[in-house]
Amino acid sequence: MNTILINGTTDFFQRNFGNAPEKIILSPGRINIIGEHIDYNDGFVLPAAIDKIICFAFEKNNTKTSKIIAIDLDEYFEINLDDEITFDEKVWTNYLRGVLQQLKLKGFQFDGFNCVFRSNIPVGSGLSSSAALECGFLFGINEIFNLNIKPVDIALMGQKAEHWVGINCGIMDQFSSVMGKENKVIKIDCRTLEFEYHEANFSDYSILLLDSNVKHSLFTSAYNTRREECEEGLSIIKKKYPEISSFRDCNITHLQNVKDKMTENIFKRSHYVIQEIARVGKACYALDKGNIPLLGELLFETHKGLSQEYEVSCDEIDFLVDAVKKEKSVIGARMMGGGFGGCSINLVEKGAEDDLIEKIAKQYHSEFGIELKSYKVKISKGTTEFKN
Ligand code: GLA
Repeated sequence: MNTILINGTTDFFQRNFGNAPEKIILSPGRINIIGEHIDYNDGFVLPAAIDKIICFAFEKNNTKTSKIIAIDLDEYFEINLDDEITFDEKVWTNYLRGVLQQLKLKGFQFDGFNCVFRSNIPVGSGLSSSAALECGFLFGINEIFNLNIKPVDIALMGQKAEHWVGINCGIMDQFSSVMGKENKVIKIDCRTLEFEYHEANFSDYSILLLDSNVKHSLFTSAYNTRREECEEGLSIIKKKYPEISSFRDCNITHLQNVKDKMTENIFKRSHYVIQEIARVGKACYALDKGNIPLLGELLFETHKGLSQEYEVSCDEIDFLVDAVKKEKSVIGARMMGGGFGGCSINLVEKGAEDDLIEKIAKQYHSEFGIELKSYKVKISKGTTEFKN
């Protein structure tokens, strides 16, 4: 499937610019096994890059102007790198403008280039197509101009680009898109950015994503609000316990002892974060021991927290998680990513996936009138140069 994508991208480049691209870059989307909304709370997360990618083709053009074409959208933009970088009404271009802005801010010198890209990462499904866009684009510029930017810095600059667009996200998406490895999940310590790879072996179960096919418009504002609520919760805890520097250092007793100083919402958000940080440790242990049923239970617990305490789920995703809970073939499920739509991640008995999809799709359609999508993803490598 990705071969068709890669060939389509290079053929398009050739037709448009009259020669083969200098570099072809593949940049993946990501899943997250567990550790949701805790990257910006100094917790651990357990994501992995997947086999859904954006393919970019690049060449230097020896001018000051760069031309960038989104093949799928049949849209392009041109940008003179000497001009001030500003927002544009074509939303997709802002992620790339944000990357160029970062490069300029950091004083990198480079000239114009031509770039085309195509993607098979569903947009708005919580698979981080924007991180793949930022990181793949930056990776390509880094390659053609030999800027010597290290992979982790590519992720950090990608994150800054996303902030520039308006989402105050954590580091998880960009980090996993850049650093992913085949068949490995990455345990990232979001406080220090230390990381380690763990075997993505789910024994008799496979990972199945069920896409609600909805993306509620509150996403950006609610995401940023959650972040502020967590900052507020932590600052209340710190007043009583100055030695605490992040939710990582808190336990439920610390929180209970300041409950009367907090609104109910701030308490619920903080409670979720402390529990989720602890759950990732248990989940990683379960995965390493091959105790997939335990991992599954933890996923269900995370969902409950995200839905009832952190309040970032929605009716459609809650429905999908409740529906699979009744199925013997599913041992764990939860909403994945930022929330308010997108996908649920499910641990499903190998061989039972197709029957499950058929059954849940019917139920989902009769409840919401929306077509369910599903993806059987493979855990794959991070952003790389593709060589024939
Ligand atoms: C989005 C953000 C990430 C992370 C997740 C929730 O994907 O980009 O940084 O916070 O939501 O875990």
